[in-house]
Amino acid sequence: MVLSLSSFCLCSPQYVEQSALEKFDGVSEGKYTIGLGQKKMAFVDDREDIQSVCLTAVTKLHEKYKISFNDIGRLEVGTETIIDKSKSVKSTLMQLFSKHGNTEIEGVDTTNACYGGTNAFFNAVNWIESSSWDGRYAIVVAGDFAIYAQGSARPTSGAGVVAMLIGKDAPIVIERGLRSTHMEHAWDFYKPDLSSEYPTVDGKLSGICYLRAFDKCYNRYMKRLGDIDNVQHPGVDNIDYFVFHSPYTKLVQKTYARALYNDFIRNAEDPRWADYAHHRVLSYEEALLSRDVEKTFVTHAKAGYAQKVEPGLLAAKQIGNMYTASVWTCLATVISEVSSEDLQNKRVVLFSYGSGLASSMLSFRIVGSITHIAKHLSIRERLDSRVLCTPQDFEIALNLRELTHSTKDYIPTGSLEHINDGDFYLEKVDHMFRRTYLRK
Ligand code: ACO
Repeated sequence: MVLSLSSFCLCSPQYVEQSALEKFDGVSEGKYTIGLGQKKMAFVDDREDIQSVCLTAVTKLHEKYKISFNDIGRLEVGTETIIDKSKSVKSTLMQLFSKHGNTEIEGVDTTNACYGGTNAFFNAVNWIESSSWDGRYAIVVAGDFAIYAQGSARPTSGAGVVAMLIGKDAPIVIERGLRSTHMEHAWDFYKPDLSSEYPTVDGKLSGICYLRAFDKCYNRYMKRLGDIDNVQHPGVDNIDYFVFHSPYTKLVQKTYARALYNDFIRNAEDPRWADYAHHRVLSYEEALLSRDVEKTFVTHAKAGYAQKVEPGLLAAKQIGNMYTASVWTCLATVISEVSSEDLQNKRVVLFSYGSGLASSMLSFRIVGSITHIAKHLSIRERLDSRVLCTPQDFEIALNLRELTHSTKDYIPTGSLEHINDGDFYLEKVDHMFRRTYLRK
């Protein structure tokens, strides 16, 4: 059986320039734009919540691909933007399906930081491979508002949602037998305060956890690739494109360099590593924290990064972190940015990371035309059509969200002007916390 994916990505139309934010926050010029590798950042006010953006993404997926609401047999949502401790976002999305008479749809929500969308994706794929599959499509929605309290993490905020259609006989297929996973207990980023949208985050630790998780997944993936494809020294040369969970793109650049470092450790005899032999004396932990190792491999990886990673980072640089949606938006960006011809028979590796922590690596092959998907995505055009706001607007929006979080009997005050035609928005929260939505 062939498994596949077509995706549609949506992001909030409001954004702020990172260079303006540097001035506003009084940090040194270049800290966010060069130091974090971010250009722009999307944000939302109180007019949108996780359910309104998921309603929009699922509706547009149906409209753009002309799929009947009755053709869906499974709907999975991955998110960490929790607005209810019991009722799933998926159950709210059922409003779209029940009015077409389809109430037989499996799946609910999955949560673990930025990994929930990947787990939701695995659930959907596993369903299609199982004896429970009834022949219909699955939809996976991954979406979040990444929002941080005032401080050093705030410039790594963002907002986005992706909806993906999973079925058979499609142009993007999962490679079997290569998927790898690493999970462990870590306190790098978590949300213990249910009265706030903000996480408790140890930023430095989260970066180290991310890199370590990558190393584990990458080496396990490469071992399987070597065994299955009978490749003697598998490594970055066997991969055409990489997509990463992208909290900020500087971390992605450092992570791609780790791929080369791991290739170097696994294959000492390769003459291209001759000059780096002195790095071998370091223990794994020493090498993980070594600035010298980082600089050496980031420099060595420069050309490969430009060719294999940057095509997937356009949206991540201009939107910011999207938590569960981030890595899937990077995959959508490769599809949108690289031509269908150039992608034919190419391998795209995806690395998903969620704090706490859960991580996996898998790969896709492009085996058919994806021109129609790229056309529907049009990521560059959509990023260019957004509304530029000031850092003050951004702060006002976050303050508004802070004030109204978990409020009942409430009508949002955020302007409707920036909501795109055809998108859903939050109309009101009634005296029993029930939320209703309208479509513009
Ligand atoms: N010009 C160029 N570069 C600069 C400048 C400047 N003027 N000023 C600083 N930099 C560089 C620094 O040298 C540093 O580079 P390095 O990463 O190579 O060391 C980088 O910019 C960041 O500067 P720091 O001072 O280290 O940043 P800070 O401590 O203020 O915060 C952090 C950065 C930790 C990423 C913070 O934004 C954060 O906590 N973010 C949320 C957590 C996160 O995203 N974790 C990633 C994985 S988990 C997840 O997805 C949530």
